[in-house]
Amino acid sequence: MDKLIIEGGRKLEGTVTISGSKNASLPALAATILANGKSVLSNVPGLADIQTMEALLSHLGAKVEIDGNVAMVDASSIHDLEAPYEIVRKMRASCLVLGPLLARFGRARISLPGGCAIGARPIDMHLHGLEQMGAKVLLEHGYVDAVAPAGGLKGAKIVFDVSTVTGTENLMMAATLAKGTTVLENAAREPEVVELAEALIQMGAKIAGIGTNTIQVEGVSSLRPMEHTVGPDRIESGTFVAAAAITGGDVLIRGIRADHLEAVITQFEKIGCQIDGARPTHGVTDLRVKGPERLLAADIRTAPYPGFPTDMQAQLMACMAVAEGTSHVEETIWENRFMHALELMRMGADIALHGGLAVVKGSAILSGAPVMATDLRASASLVLAGLRAQGTTEVLRIYHLDRGYDKIERKLAALGAQVTRAKQ
Ligand code: EPZ
Repeated sequence: MDKLIIEGGRKLEGTVTISGSKNASLPALAATILANGKSVLSNVPGLADIQTMEALLSHLGAKVEIDGNVAMVDASSIHDLEAPYEIVRKMRASCLVLGPLLARFGRARISLPGGCAIGARPIDMHLHGLEQMGAKVLLEHGYVDAVAPAGGLKGAKIVFDVSTVTGTENLMMAATLAKGTTVLENAAREPEVVELAEALIQMGAKIAGIGTNTIQVEGVSSLRPMEHTVGPDRIESGTFVAAAAITGGDVLIRGIRADHLEAVITQFEKIGCQIDGARPTHGVTDLRVKGPERLLAADIRTAPYPGFPTDMQAQLMACMAVAEGTSHVEETIWENRFMHALELMRMGADIALHGGLAVVKGSAILSGAPVMATDLRASASLVLAGLRAQGTTEVLRIYHLDRGYDKIERKLAALGAQVTRAKQ
């Protein structure tokens, strides 16, 4: 297992280029199952989660080749319809193969993902939606066994109780090959859902209402393989905005989708950052982020897109730990996503937790310490705190970080951070 050793106190300066999005790549890779042929995805980030999806698709019988940032998936040889526990336990997003397998092959068996570090994370809405499309869903021995009716899944009107990103993605994929029209109400509007819809349309799917809460999918009889370029990772982008902010640095972030990050950019401007660069309403841009000597406090509340993303909450909290004044950080998506707070407190942060609310009293100084996190974004928040802290911070168990950040220590070192990877 690896750790990162960070000597804090350096202002980050220079240019960083954002990698392809993890949470857009995973559903796109799962969607390749829908077509009988070879799909090609480019700008796929080099991450442990991508390797897990590669292992899952290979287990199903697909021929998968990843060459740098290009993934080729030939789904014509799929013969196994089971996502086993050994793979699903490593990555919950493995459940994204459920909809495509059921739609194309009429059957799927996937291990039920358990709880995880940030909350219970059920998939009941995915399963209920598939039942409404006519599937018989059986839960036994820790597995979901789903069987489509004779003649395939049927279009249905599905209303989500709460907005679910992978739930919307799973059912949208299932609906592409169903008979008739499926309407998804209270659907998620995250950019990753929009990107998946666009990739599916390119495969021949008929989808309307993209980017709204009501998505309509008219089933077609078959789809062709996908050729798709994955968009930039908005959470990696936001994390580098936070890195410039917390170190009082000056960083040019290249290849960013400013339109996907409005809530994040606005928040970092409010707390004293200067953010310059064109902000087109569509397409990538470069943004230059200058952090102040001392950040200001903020009150934030996480919410589904276009609100402030839960996946940036931990990184913002690290910034609040050194800001001037008292901040309130409310987490509304995951019930247990404050693990980083306890570790930040070991570095000298003054944080009080009241259920889903964290009250952070900013202190001018954090001190380096050995810290450890149990989820990806919590680990990112500890790295940010380490960049700012006096002395040495060791972030242990960074395999979480490797699940979601492509070449993080190389990118940070290129900006002048003193950071090295070592065996734990
Ligand atoms: C996606 O997870 C992301 N993962 C998460 O990113 C992100 O935190 C989350 O969306 C929210 O934005 C991927 O895209 C692979 P949800 P997902 O279904 O789809 C409840 C990261 O750091 N719910 O939108 O699993 C659920 O418990 C990760 O990259 C049900 O109750 O999240 C939660 O409270 C972590 N029943 C809420 O809905 C269901 O069937 C939103 O979850 C499904 C969800």
